[in-house]
Amino acid sequence: MAPKAIFLLLVLLSFMFCSSQVITDDHQFKFFNAMKASLSGKALSDWDMRGNSYCNFTGVTCNDKGYVERINLSDWSLSGYFPADVCSYLPALRVLDISRNNLQGNFLNNVVNCSLLEEFNISSVSLRETLPDFFRMTSLRVLDLSYNYFRGDFPMSITNLTNLEELYFNEVDEMNLWQLPENISRLKKLKVMVLTTCRLYGPIPRSIGNMTSLVDLELSGNFLSGQIPKELGLLKNLEQLELYYNQHLSGTIPEELGNLTKLGDLDMSVNMLTGSIPDSICRLPNLRVLQLYNNSLTGEIPGVIADSTKLTLLSLYGNFLSGELPQNMGKTSPLIVLDLSENNFSGPLPAEICQGGKLLYLLVLANKFYGKLPESYANCKSLIRFRVSNNHLEGSIPEGILGLPHSSIIDLGDNDFTGPFPSSIENARNLSELFLQNNKLSGFLPSEISRAINLVKLDLSNNLLSGSIPSEIGNLRNLNLLMLQGNKFGSSIPTSLSLLKSLNVLDLSNNRLTGKIPENLSDLLPNSINFSNNQLSGPIPLSLIKGGLAESFSGNPGLCVPVHVQNFPICPQIYNQKKVNSMWAIIVAAIVITIGSLLFLKRRLSKQRAVIEHDETLSSSFFSYDMKSFHRICFDQHEILGAMVEKNIVGHGGSGTVYRIELKSGDVAVKKLWSKTAKDSFSEDQMVFNKGMKTEVETLGSIRHKNIVKLYSYFSSFDCNLLVYEFMPNGNLWDALHKGWLFLDWPTRHQIALGVAHGLAYLHHDLMPPIIHRDIKSTNILLDANYQPKVADFGIAKVLQARGKDSTSTVIAGTYGYLAPEYAYSNKATTKCDVYSYGVVLMELITGKKPVESDFGENKNIVYWVSTKLDTKEGVMEALDKSLSTSFKDEMIQVLRTAMRCTCKNPSQRPTMNEVVQLLIDADPCRLGSCKLLSTNKTKDASNVTKIKNQPDV
Ligand SMILES: *[C@@H]1O[C@H](CO)[C@@H](O)[C@H](O)[C@H]1NC(C)=O
Ligand SMILES: *[C@@H]1O[C@H](CO)[C@@H](O)[C@H](O)[C@H]1NC(C)=O
Ligand SMILES: *[C@@H]1O[C@H](CO)[C@@H](O)[C@H](O)[C@H]1NC(C)=O
Ligand SMILES: *[C@@H]1O[C@H](CO)[C@@H](O)[C@H](O)[C@H]1NC(C)=O
Ligand SMILES: *[C@@H]1O[C@H](CO)[C@@H](O)[C@H](O)[C@H]1NC(C)=O
Repeated sequence: MAPKAIFLLLVLLSFMFCSSQVITDDHQFKFFNAMKASLSGKALSDWDMRGNSYCNFTGVTCNDKGYVERINLSDWSLSGYFPADVCSYLPALRVLDISRNNLQGNFLNNVVNCSLLEEFNISSVSLRETLPDFFRMTSLRVLDLSYNYFRGDFPMSITNLTNLEELYFNEVDEMNLWQLPENISRLKKLKVMVLTTCRLYGPIPRSIGNMTSLVDLELSGNFLSGQIPKELGLLKNLEQLELYYNQHLSGTIPEELGNLTKLGDLDMSVNMLTGSIPDSICRLPNLRVLQLYNNSLTGEIPGVIADSTKLTLLSLYGNFLSGELPQNMGKTSPLIVLDLSENNFSGPLPAEICQGGKLLYLLVLANKFYGKLPESYANCKSLIRFRVSNNHLEGSIPEGILGLPHSSIIDLGDNDFTGPFPSSIENARNLSELFLQNNKLSGFLPSEISRAINLVKLDLSNNLLSGSIPSEIGNLRNLNLLMLQGNKFGSSIPTSLSLLKSLNVLDLSNNRLTGKIPENLSDLLPNSINFSNNQLSGPIPLSLIKGGLAESFSGNPGLCVPVHVQNFPICPQIYNQKKVNSMWAIIVAAIVITIGSLLFLKRRLSKQRAVIEHDETLSSSFFSYDMKSFHRICFDQHEILGAMVEKNIVGHGGSGTVYRIELKSGDVAVKKLWSKTAKDSFSEDQMVFNKGMKTEVETLGSIRHKNIVKLYSYFSSFDCNLLVYEFMPNGNLWDALHKGWLFLDWPTRHQIALGVAHGLAYLHHDLMPPIIHRDIKSTNILLDANYQPKVADFGIAKVLQARGKDSTSTVIAGTYGYLAPEYAYSNKATTKCDVYSYGVVLMELITGKKPVESDFGENKNIVYWVSTKLDTKEGVMEALDKSLSTSFKDEMIQVLRTAMRCTCKNPSQRPTMNEVVQLLIDADPCRLGSCKLLSTNKTKDASNVTKIKNQPDV
């Protein structure tokens, strides 16, 4: 019976094969078997290996003879070894796309024998080897080797692949330096040449002018030098030309580029270009994007640019351009971004700049513009950022401008504006930062400001504002910075300020404020507070003095203190009591306050419970939570939601409130992001938030690294987003350093610096696509029980898009004092912005100082301050934290040097995080075993830690 059946089957099979004219697919089948065996990944489970049905597999296409022609496994999350000899098993293969996986094996050495392969994509597969010769791949039309860690020399054999139409070699930055050869021009069919961030140096060969098929030429992020060859003007099909971030390209911009009539996108930013912007370029009929920022260009903007009907993005900041702007600018162009900051432009601002109705960014900071702000700007409804600070603008602020419905930053500081504060501020529902400092605004601060409910930063300092500080200001619950100093405010301090639980900087100095300092301001814990030079009277709340803030109250003759503090009189009622040791009095008072506030909290708490039970909106969103868990950890969402009460709040950040919640399974930190309920889908931030949040959170949830805080899960509902993290018992680095909550010796600080560097290096270099944190600062560095640091708060981090220019994003992020200088004007966040912020944290660790302190001078930060200390040996010693033992001074100076490099003004001079890790390992204070002698148990751990190599614990 059985043999008969087998015979029948064989007959049947051979009949099938003959009828479809397949010769033998056994060989092909073997390759799929090999793939299935050596690769792992969920997507492969669809491949059913029973029966030879691989032509039906997802990702596989056969020709009508049953030969495999295309394999596309792009982005399948595969890992493991890709089998060798793909072309001998699959002789008809034309297309092989295995990009965006995590592959190993030396398959590349055999793939280069595939003389029939036409498309080959191995971008983002984490290969680390040297590249083989490609000269046999003569049929290749598309080659993508981007995002790998290849080492060694660039395979010049690629210049022999004359059928090539698209070549991508982006972010391959561990190669040896290499030059573009003259004979690259043999690639006459090449349409797309992307050789970016791949360690190219030297001149751009003139022969490129012969590659007339080119549509897209991108050579940015390299070390190219010399002049831009005028032969580029021969590339008549060119639509995109990217030469930015080479830093060394010099000479003038060739007029011949004006012959590229199809050119839509031209970017030559961050180079050393001189001379003026050629007229011919500004006439290009299809030009949409022109970016020339950070060069040394002079002269005026050619007036003809205003006639463009295509221009959307013009970014020229950081040059020496001068003269007046064409007054009809924006009249015919659909401008979206205009950035002319940091030049010498003068004259009036063009009135019709946002006529196109699409302008999102209008940035002209630090120029010499004068005259009034055009009334028409009040109709620029689309504006998200409006920054004209540091000019000579005058007159009153047009009524509608502060109420622009979508604007997120309005910056009119450091001008000569006069007149009243516009009450249209009540319409500014999306405004998060308002800067009007150093003008001559007068009159009252309207109470309508309390409607600008999303304000995070408000700086009205040094104007002539008078009257009272409206008590409604307490409604601005997200406020992080409130600067009202240097005005003529004459009221008492509103008690409602105590509602501003997120406040970090509060400055009311140099006004005419009277009355008492409200006792409940002790609820606030700002990092910086200043009430000096007013006419305040009565006792200073104890907890405010205890924070070492005594000098913030000077210049108020009527103020007194309950216990002895330098330069302040003792309040009469205490004075009469018997003298007690002042330390004791502080301690006793503190205990009394603590108990008092505990009782108070308890009462508040029971009230809060009642509120929660009756809050319908909360309970409705309660049940519509969409929950995602990333780690195998169980918790009951009701348990978490029930515990989100005031008593459990441990902090407020720029992006939300943090709770510590004790669960049966251990403590967790829960972050409640500020709710964003704006229905308006136009707001850019809102769109990014909604669209990006889900994927972003998933990416973050998948990250496993010992120096990155674990995200356990994520709940979301339409009005609220909760993130559940591991809880870190030793708080954040800011508190440890600046509030003196912990004493950290140098070995511990070094361990912290190294850990953070490992965490960031992982985000930047080990993930595809990389993640830019965007808000590195000491409050975002948390310490676990062993003082190991973990990077937290990706609330605003964004996952980079995979390619080139998309690797920038326009979400507003970052913290004053830590922000890389280039980021303040451009909207390009890069890994080098993180490196800068990290450098600031290093300086905090070394000096013990805050990023911004008044001692540094007006508008000066720690980077400036440190730079003033480096001239002499004594100066350098002065920069080091005095509270630390001098036995590690050499290592500290070594790290200080690294910190200086990280904070270079020029992003390209900053090291990568991988380099930083190496520099810090070299400066390990424990490498000589000296730590055991000098430090306690915890730093013995530290010496172990510093020797462990960076390995993400998967
Ligand atoms: C491929 O799938 C189709 C239908 O989905 C089926 O009819 C065909 O027999 C399959 N081919 C092979 C070789 O399995
Ligand atoms: C492979 O598939 C991905 C997505 O499924 C697609 O974006 C890509 O273009 C494909 N590659 C080729 C060479 O067709
Ligand atoms: C290009 O191919 C020729 C032979 O066809 C070979 O002699 C030459 O070395 C190759 N060039 C490179 C750079 O590999
Ligand atoms: C361009 O090609 C022509 C002919 O192939 C050649 O004569 C010329 O020298 C080339 N130009 C450059 C700049 O290489
Ligand atoms: C290109 O532009 C330059 C100057 O703008 C001009 O002299 C030249 O004739 C143009 N060449 C072509 C081929 O149009």
